[in-house]
Amino acid sequence: MPANDKDLHPIRTHTCGELRSEHVGTEVVLKGWVDTRRDLGGVIFLDLRDRYGLTQVVCSPQDAKAAYERADLVRNEYVVSVRGVVGERTQETVNPKLPTGEIEVRVQDLVVLNSAEPVPFAVSAHEEKRRTANEDLRLRYRYLDLRRPELQDILVLRHKACRAIREYFDRNGFVEVETPVLMKSTPEGARDYLVPSRVHPGQFYALPQSPQTYKQILMISGLDRYFQIVKCFRDEDLRADRQPEFTQIDVEMSFPDEEQIYATFEGLMQAIWKDVKGVDLPAPFPRLTWREAIERYGSDKPDLRFGMEIQDVSKAFEGSGFRVFDRILAGGGRIVAIVARGQGDWTRSQMDRLDKDIVRRKIGVGGLIYFKLPSDGSERYSSVKEHVIAREYVDACIAAVDARPGDLVLALAGPDPEIFTHMGKLRLHMANETGLIPPQGEAWRFVWVTEFPLLEREADGGRFTAMHHPFTAPHPDDAAALDRNPGGVRARAYDMTLNGVELGGGSIRIHSSDMQRRMFRLLGIDEEEAERRFGFLLDAFRYGAPPHGGIAFGLDRIVMALAGTHNIRDVIAFPKTQSAQELMVQSPDTVDAKQLEALHIEIVSDETPE
Ligand code: AMO
Repeated sequence: MPANDKDLHPIRTHTCGELRSEHVGTEVVLKGWVDTRRDLGGVIFLDLRDRYGLTQVVCSPQDAKAAYERADLVRNEYVVSVRGVVGERTQETVNPKLPTGEIEVRVQDLVVLNSAEPVPFAVSAHEEKRRTANEDLRLRYRYLDLRRPELQDILVLRHKACRAIREYFDRNGFVEVETPVLMKSTPEGARDYLVPSRVHPGQFYALPQSPQTYKQILMISGLDRYFQIVKCFRDEDLRADRQPEFTQIDVEMSFPDEEQIYATFEGLMQAIWKDVKGVDLPAPFPRLTWREAIERYGSDKPDLRFGMEIQDVSKAFEGSGFRVFDRILAGGGRIVAIVARGQGDWTRSQMDRLDKDIVRRKIGVGGLIYFKLPSDGSERYSSVKEHVIAREYVDACIAAVDARPGDLVLALAGPDPEIFTHMGKLRLHMANETGLIPPQGEAWRFVWVTEFPLLEREADGGRFTAMHHPFTAPHPDDAAALDRNPGGVRARAYDMTLNGVELGGGSIRIHSSDMQRRMFRLLGIDEEEAERRFGFLLDAFRYGAPPHGGIAFGLDRIVMALAGTHNIRDVIAFPKTQSAQELMVQSPDTVDAKQLEALHIEIVSDETPE
């Protein structure tokens, strides 16, 4: 690094995004990273970058020889300080793409504050200069990746969302309370991250999957309205919108009913969207019961940005004599269809690929049946021959779904409700394929999904598990059926979804020990286990627990929606990979034998379990 007077160099007067033509003639000091360096025949142009933007600075030997000589030595990502005078660019060199594109800074003095080795991938603020580097490499050098304006903008957006959230809750009388991170297992359905205790050999803390039990306790304490922007930890299979450590906006209220909950959190979304995006969201948000969402969209997180609703065409095929259909209908199953408008001209090979690659392989269901109604009005085509399903049944189906020339009708048959969810996936695929889904950021289709089933059977058909969590109250109209027909009981649970993504979920809670014990019993948790794991809550219920309820939102998912990204790692400063590693600090990591000894832990095998 060249010797220089860095300590004497003056404090910056402006950021690299600030100067405009009205500053022409002003003496300024800028500091930032060298984004780009061009040597144009004896004059060196540097684009200086910081969080606020880019400014072109010009070093010529005539204006300042020493500065020019130093500029000659700087390379990309050097950190420099320049002092100079703002000048107007000539007409031909104005850059309309840059907010600072009308000016440049003519350098009188330049100091290198730090050098940089050649970077492993380009981090320029100029879009055309960036190369798409492999994500693992970018995560390893996350500090370089975070120099990209897109990622910095998202972090700023996340900050603004949090500010809007805190302001909204403050205006509405909610108090932010911190709850422990070293706690005890809560049943949110994932595996816990465990922390061994040194002081209590053989005992472990669990990191919170959510602060669920604490927030209920806070209601019993009389806090009335609680919220917290809080880290939660779940050791579960990761997907595009899941991280092992993520952030919830966690909320609980005393004496609420569902209407108050819906209004409060519609208000929260309106406040965030207004503050961060300047968008006025219309409220109230539409609502669908879980059953309606499944029947019409094949999903408990329905995407309402397009139609193509699922239709039950079982009636049209009643008595068709087609053995597969007859058997499914007799067993209580359904025949369901969607209409892909304007897709009636798909070729045979397109249809074969849809059937093989998507329906069978990806969705995992066999037997796609389709009817094509060509756009020229010519004879329709049925994938099932006439001697198998007679014309009149196909006609009845086409009429039932209101298909017209040019349309494609896709039908599946199978057990209820699985066949709806299979069709829901096909609906999403067809919408993607035919361009029905508006680009991220152009449509905000919020919807509440209500009246979830309280319980669901585990995959092997055995035990019941709580669909939301074991603290959720049963629907008052169904509570009597808890023992008789537990699988048919609805819960006082609700999810808020946006554009096919679950943003948040919550419920009105059980607040009596008797009901809570009954619920534990239904879930196969015996008295002793209930006492050991949740005795504190059961006790607390006996000392005046108010009716209460709440919700938790995934902050990361809200920011993803606001930022228009499908990758949860884009909205987290230091995210983990699909295999739950953080590549920059290289966690998880081994620890010293001494540390393990202090924790009374012995590693018996370092093989990953199945
Ligand atoms: P739930 O388990 O539905 O409810 O979680 C609430 C919301 O948190 C987000 N979320 C996640 N985001 C990123 N990565 C993950 N691994 C992840 N898991 C969940 C989702 C989800 O809607 N205690 C209850 C809430 C309550 O009843 O009040 C709970 O945690 O956006």
